[in-house]
Amino acid sequence: MVFSTRSLVLSAVWLSTMGVIADSNFNWDTVPLDYDSSAAGNAAIAIARYPSRSSKSDYLGPILLNPGGPGGSGVDYCRRSVSYSTPTVSWFKSDAERALWIPSSGYPALDESVNAIAEQWARAQVQGQLAEERAKGYLQYITTDNTARDMVRIMEAFGQEKLQYWGISYGSALGATFAALFPNKVGRVVIDGVLDMDAWYSANLTVQEADTDKALQMFADGCFAAGLNDCAFYAPSSAQITANLQALLASVKTNPLPVITPISYDVFGYTLLKNSLFSSLYSATSLFQLLAEGLANLAKGNASTIYTSFVEVPPFECPADSNSTSPPMPFHDNAFEALFSIACNDASAVNDTVSELQQFYFEAQKVSSFADLWANWRVVCSGWKVHRPGRFSGPVRAANISFPLLVVGNTVDPVTPISGASIRSKLNFLQHTSVNAPSTCVFGYLREYFVNGTLPEVGTVCTPNSPLFPSSEGNSTASGRRDLKSSEAGRAIGAAQRRVTGY
Ligand SMILES: *[C@@H]1O[C@H](CO)[C@@H](O)[C@H](O)[C@H]1NC(C)=O
Ligand SMILES: *[C@@H]1O[C@H](CO)[C@@H](O)[C@H](O)[C@H]1NC(C)=O
Ligand SMILES: *[C@@H]1O[C@H](CO)[C@@H](O)[C@H](O)[C@H]1NC(C)=O
Ligand SMILES: *[C@@H]1O[C@H](CO)[C@@H](O)[C@H](O)[C@H]1NC(C)=O
Ligand SMILES: *[C@@H]1O[C@H](CO)[C@@H](O)[C@H](O)[C@H]1NC(C)=O
Ligand SMILES: *[C@@H]1O[C@H](CO)[C@@H](O)[C@H](O)[C@H]1NC(C)=O
Ligand SMILES: *[C@@H]1O[C@H](CO)[C@@H](O)[C@H](O)[C@H]1NC(C)=O
Repeated sequence: MVFSTRSLVLSAVWLSTMGVIADSNFNWDTVPLDYDSSAAGNAAIAIARYPSRSSKSDYLGPILLNPGGPGGSGVDYCRRSVSYSTPTVSWFKSDAERALWIPSSGYPALDESVNAIAEQWARAQVQGQLAEERAKGYLQYITTDNTARDMVRIMEAFGQEKLQYWGISYGSALGATFAALFPNKVGRVVIDGVLDMDAWYSANLTVQEADTDKALQMFADGCFAAGLNDCAFYAPSSAQITANLQALLASVKTNPLPVITPISYDVFGYTLLKNSLFSSLYSATSLFQLLAEGLANLAKGNASTIYTSFVEVPPFECPADSNSTSPPMPFHDNAFEALFSIACNDASAVNDTVSELQQFYFEAQKVSSFADLWANWRVVCSGWKVHRPGRFSGPVRAANISFPLLVVGNTVDPVTPISGASIRSKLNFLQHTSVNAPSTCVFGYLREYFVNGTLPEVGTVCTPNSPLFPSSEGNSTASGRRDLKSSEAGRAIGAAQRRVTGY
């Protein structure tokens, strides 16, 4: 049961705690592509509906969910996908063209080589020009403010006067923007994994990186505390673990390793190692042990574990040539284009020169060692030429909202640190968004908020259900299951990560 999406980021969800769908014959109308004029035509928003199991009398209306990215498919997220939004956001003519353009190892870390920034700048110019020439007509409308307007249409279609919404990662930017544009329509809005809105709307995410290195430090500290039995990358001090990790980074930079697996092959170098580390930080409780194993093998010259766990992407095959039992990759796998369309459309025009970008990176790497991945956002936006006049571009200041937002900010979040969480009631939590590290505590507060409108006291702290390095003692079957699940999670995050550095 799927309808349509401007930005492929939106889904309506009925949480199982919330109630039933009253009308299964729900009809969907399209939304205007341009809210100022009907001349631009329509967009159709893809929505997956996840029905509630509770009684009709308990039903409190739908909760919209946005899983982040931007450009992550809300429909896929709900695993109820049938179709996707139109127009399809892309400046490529085919999946093959896209696959040939996106670097096979993902965006290079900007300190991988001396000319990385200059080369990425030039690529950004090509991409920006393609986007403008091939798709400007509708791309200019693919923005967060229009997605917020789409949400109003969705609410209206469901007869809801106020928004009930759970925004994860980039979804927090959408929720905050909604609150700024429609303060009177805020019903229950959860901002989970807080993006700094000024940073977002200026294509300068440096401030977002503030905690990334702290999260990596948690890996070293947790590994040391866990001991050799539970952390394969163990060393006799956390400083030694960090030093060993730095040595590995230096080593693969000069001596990348060949890797061949049953489904793919690559050269495992610095960029892939940085991406693996970054992916693991998303969901430390399920991925740190796996990372430790991968690093330990890498130190022995074997890259296959870390590669398959975090960054492996099967090589692209044209559907017609493929003799695979799995269905061909659909054209809707346009997370790459959707991400940069939304991010660069939203942001003030950057237009940086190579030397300005070098200066930008120089400053950013003082904040985080992961600036080599993050600063790519600004580099890509420096080539972007599509900007709709009159679009909302901040500042996001939601005075007098009709109901307080619930902010799930994370104490050590590699991606959206707590400094962005300045809006309302705060729930401190370890990890990037509550969905990356399940916590009965967080979900309990979310339920209370949605059902009764109850806010936790400011500064309430929750912890994830599992420790960073779960003990394997006496529980080999459970740990075996965890490894398998972790491996899948690592791959899924890594695959998305590698195509785009998204959140
Ligand atoms: C980007 O943001 C950082 C941190 O807020 C700031 O120090 C820096 O001056 C900004 N850079 C630009 C080019 O705006
Ligand atoms: C690398 O490690 C994996 C997992 O332990 C193993 O299956 C594989 O054979 C090793 N590869 C090489 C070349 O030693
Ligand atoms: C695909 O591969 C299988 C197994 O190798 C083979 O039996 C089959 O004929 C192939 N199909 C096509 C359409 O090439
Ligand atoms: C971008 O910068 C170039 C070079 O400084 C300039 O020629 C161009 O007009 C600028 N474009 C915009 C949109 O500001
Ligand atoms: C917010 O509401 C208060 C009380 O109703 C009012 O005095 C104030 O002017 C409002 N502020 C804004 C920015 O609308
Ligand atoms: C909502 O409030 C009612 C009445 O106080 C209580 O019985 C119920 O457990 C609360 N529900 C949640 C999910 O907190
Ligand atoms: C073993 O794993 C199960 C399932 O994850 C868990 O319920 C149980 O507490 C674990 N036991 C020990 C000793 O860790």
